[in-house]
Formats: sequence, structure tokens, C-alpha cells
Amino acid sequence: MEFDKVLSERFSVREYKDIPVEEEKIQAILDAVRLAPTAKNSQPQKIYVAKTKEALEKVDLVTPNRFGAPVAMLICGDSEKACILKSNGRNFLEVDATIIQTYMMLKAGDLGLSTCWIGRYTNDKVYEVFNIPKNYIPYGILLVGYKSDSAVPSNMHLSRLEVEDFTVTL
Ligand SMILES: Cc1cc2nc3c(=O)[nH]c(=O)nc-3n(C[C@H](O)[C@H](O)[C@H](O)COP(=O)(O)O)c2cc1C
Repeated sequence: MEFDKVLSERFSVREYKDIPVEEEKIQAILDAVRLAPTAKNSQPQKIYVAKTKEALEKVDLVTPNRFGAPVAMLICGDSEKACILKSNGRNFLEVDATIIQTYMMLKAGDLGLSTCWIGRYTNDKVYEVFNIPKNYIPYGILLVGYKSDSAVPSNMHLSRLEVEDFTVTL
């Protein structure tokens, strides 16, 4: 899909069709992660993919916001691989994880899939429900699937600042 179209047609989908996402498409979303920039090329990502009924039921224990999506991807950053600046202690782990999740979201859009970025969960609950090592810090869940025919952009999607509202020329 044309890049501008991927951007302009994306909106957070909160209603999905009950059909699976093709394995090739899941793979393509994960392949896109390999192209993402990370601080000092630290590549700290660890991504958990939930697509079976059992795994999705666990996701439902973690967040009330799955919206029937057939795939949920938990994006974590490995704190042991984090790029931390020696000079001032700045830690880029969350930045890296966020870039990665953005790549995944846009690649999914490119493949004709819909997504919703989910931040409504606690890390404590993620550790309780999924047996993941404590050095993998959860930074986001990406829902992926085919939107239902009745899915429409929310009012939040439609409310956008103008460029001049957030731009300052120096
Ligand atoms: C960091 C982040 C966390 C979010 N968490 C949630 C969430 O937990 N539940 C939800 O329904 N949407 C969530 N969203 C989606 C936003 O509400 C949505 O992106 C925003 O309202 C703009 O709408 P749009 O994505 O349709 O353009 C999140 C988005 C981001 C970037």
C-alpha cells in the first residue's frame, strides 16, 4: 500500500472479525521489526505473540481491551540489552520498544490489517499471567486483525491538532 495511505487509513480498531490473521502476515509484521532503528543497534525487543484461544484468554486476564482481536502482540524490552548513555544515564529501552511497536502497527496497516495500541494493563498482571522473565519489560500490546464491517474511527481519531498548533519555528 502507498505509505501515505497506510498513515491516513489507520485508526484504532476496537471491533474485529472473528477470522484469523494469515501466518505470512504475522511473519511479515515480525520481519518489519528487524528494520527498525534502536539505540546503538541494541535490538532489545522480545515480542510475545498470542493467537491461540488459550493465549488470548490469558490476554483477556491482562487487559479488558482486546476487543475480539484474533492476535495480540506483547512488545517487551530486555532491560539487560538496554542502551543506557554513560554520560547521563539516559535509558532508551522504552523509546526502542515504542519505535518497534510503531513499525509493527504500520506494517500491519500495509498488509490490509487493522490494529489497536493497548496500554491499559499493568506490568504486574503481565508477569502474573505470562511466565516471562522479569528483565523483559512490557511496553505495549498491539492488537491485530481484520476490522468488522461496522468499525469506525472514534471521535478521538477525528480530533487532531493543526500543524501550527504544535510547531515552533526556531
Ligand atoms: C501509548 C498508547 C496507549 C494506548 N492505549 C489504549 C488502550 O489501552 N485502549 C484503547 O482502546 N486504545 C488505546 N490507545 C489508542 C488511542 O486511544 C488512540 O490511538 C488515539 O485515541 C487516537 O485515535 P486513533 O488511533 O484512532 O487515531 C493507545 C494509544 C497509544 C499510542
